[in-house]
Amino acid sequence: MTKGAWAYWPLIPRLFPYLKPYRGLVVVSLLLSAFAVVIGVLEPWPLAFMVDTVLGNHPVPDVIRHVIGPRDRATLLVLAALSGLVLVASRNLMTVVHEYVNTRLHQWIVLDFRSDLFQHAERLSVSYHDSKPTGQLMSQMNWLPDYAGGLLLGIPPLVQSLVTLVAMFVIAINLDPILALLALTVVPVMYYSVGIYAARIVPRIQKVRGLEWQTLSIVFEAMAMMRVIAAFARERYEFRRFRTQGETAAKARVGLTVRQTLFSLVVNTWTAAGTALVLGVGALHVLHGQLTVGELLVFLSYIAAVYTPLETISSSIGSMQQQLVNLQGAFMLLDAEPEIVDAPDAVNLERPQGAVAFDHVYFHYKGRSGTLRDISFAVQPGQRVAIVGPTGAGKTTLVSLIKRFHEAKTGSVLIDGIDVRKLKIASLREQVSVVLQTPELFSGSIADNIRYGRLDANEAEVIDAAKSANAHDFIERLPNGYKTELGEGGAQLSVGERQRICVARAFLKDSPILILDEPTSSIDSKTETVILDALDRLSLQRTTFVIAHRLSTIRHADLILVVDQGQLVERGTHEELLGNNGLYRQLHDVQMGVDLIERLSRRVIAIDPVDGIEGDADGSRALIAQVQRSLAAALKGTVSQEALAHAAALLVQSVEPMLAKDSPNARKILRALRSKNPLADPSIAGAFSDALVELRDLAEDLGLGAKEAYA
Ligand SMILES: Nc1ncnc2c1ncn2[C@@H]1O[C@H](COP(=O)(O)OP(=O)(O)O)[C@@H](O)[C@H]1O
Ligand SMILES: [Mg+2]
Repeated sequence: MTKGAWAYWPLIPRLFPYLKPYRGLVVVSLLLSAFAVVIGVLEPWPLAFMVDTVLGNHPVPDVIRHVIGPRDRATLLVLAALSGLVLVASRNLMTVVHEYVNTRLHQWIVLDFRSDLFQHAERLSVSYHDSKPTGQLMSQMNWLPDYAGGLLLGIPPLVQSLVTLVAMFVIAINLDPILALLALTVVPVMYYSVGIYAARIVPRIQKVRGLEWQTLSIVFEAMAMMRVIAAFARERYEFRRFRTQGETAAKARVGLTVRQTLFSLVVNTWTAAGTALVLGVGALHVLHGQLTVGELLVFLSYIAAVYTPLETISSSIGSMQQQLVNLQGAFMLLDAEPEIVDAPDAVNLERPQGAVAFDHVYFHYKGRSGTLRDISFAVQPGQRVAIVGPTGAGKTTLVSLIKRFHEAKTGSVLIDGIDVRKLKIASLREQVSVVLQTPELFSGSIADNIRYGRLDANEAEVIDAAKSANAHDFIERLPNGYKTELGEGGAQLSVGERQRICVARAFLKDSPILILDEPTSSIDSKTETVILDALDRLSLQRTTFVIAHRLSTIRHADLILVVDQGQLVERGTHEELLGNNGLYRQLHDVQMGVDLIERLSRRVIAIDPVDGIEGDADGSRALIAQVQRSLAAALKGTVSQEALAHAAALLVQSVEPMLAKDSPNARKILRALRSKNPLADPSIAGAFSDALVELRDLAEDLGLGAKEAYA
């Protein structure tokens, strides 16, 4: 017997606690098993009695005569037939009850085990889930509890077989010791075959199971990534990937099954040989008068009754091995320690003021180095902090330390002066709202999704939150309003709409600390305004961390932190940082240029030909240049050329509809645009307030008071 075969068995006692709540059912099930043993042992005797005493000439055995007294042959015949019937009927009845009891046990144990896995998976840190394929976790949760239940319920039948075996052996040895011993010759073979099974077949089972899991993960991932697959027209590629993997798994499974059946062939042959041996020698003993025909029948039925369980023992031990291997997977999941747990003396965080400080924080992901290095800063309650920096600088990681998705390796993160490691995680996360780059929604109604922010919120509060998030109008326009059922991920809404639902969720949660991780980066610039407006409102009275890819959205931050390669390279207000001529200035200038080009090109594409504009790129560029010159004159040369170009493009763009050929005012507006101070024209200044707001912001950025900018 190989050691590997038994290595997993110590796992079984770990399952016993799952039986505890169902002690009553377990006792009933065990009693039924014991009853089954008794019936199993009794069952062949009516037949033996029939053959020996009713048909043959053997006297009625003493035991029976004691019970029923002397009777004639006909009565005995009826009694034998009836007792046979009673035994079979009670066995069948018992099977029904047993099935019911076991099914109940099985279902509840499986549910309890699955609940444990579910809860544990939820407790595991975000980093655990980042490093494990979701498909694997899904199938673990799906299958493993079934195995665990199957294993536990597989034990009583095994014990029942063994007890039956012993009971029958005791009776058999009284009937005919030699024959009984002969029948036992098969047992060592069985024992060894289990060992072989465990050594040769179980490892293959593990391998095949692994392959099948991989196939399932491909399916799972593909279904989750359907949009990307469709967008890249990679259906055939994905299908081929799935198919190849599936074929490998299928071939391996076929190979395994062939081995398994070959194995049972060998075992069956052995038991057949055993049966033949007993039949032959038994018949000889009958001829010599050592045994009656009825007793031989009892022997044969015992052998059948024992060999069948023996055969199934070998395969059920085998399959239990297999289930144990899987169970080990489940325990590995259960044993995976959440990296981040509550300290024993952790305290609840009541609604904090919202002061956040980083004190010499270092952090790196497993296998990486220097993700965050020596980060220190302090934020007052209610301040608005912007975090900027190139992609991969560590911005997301930095804010994830606040809600303790990850933990500082050295240094500490403090909320209201308390180290977050001293806080109960759940209470901490309750105080931090997050709006992420990709809005993530659950399937369920829109109202449910908003209510996720605070589960006990009533309908009015949900609607209020939606209004604050600028989401109410579009929700009302949906045919089912707040009751609209969202598919997985909310796919039937636009990204902007989804994001507004997430913002509403954050409104409802109403926590004093707010994290906005590039909340508008996947949203078009028109919707962005609507969302930024809601976010501005959301961040009032809250300590807000906003990671922004568009610097124009953060220039009013109280503090801007510039992160580069895990380090805090600059900090200050927008004006201070622009003055520093450092990384922020670079990012800013690049972005202004990008914005400008973006707007100019949009402008060039869109403009309609009118007098004075040739209707081509050159013409519109010329017009913008002209406007820019006029603005420069109006702003007395205090504004950079870049900003002026930006403003000019904006202005031209926003008056574009009025420049159309058939518009009566086209000429007048064109003249105003080209004049010394286009903003002096009330029809421009009045009608295009959007552009003016941006222009004013721009002027403020550049240290120019609003009045001077377009007085
Ligand atoms: N779960 C993770 N495991 C390992 N490395 C990660 C993980 N998440 C991010 N990183 C790495 O950490 C660095 C910082 O990432 P991140 O904070 O997401 O940057 P940013 O948000 O500034 O774009 C990057 O180099 C990134 O590759
Ligand atoms: Mg990020």
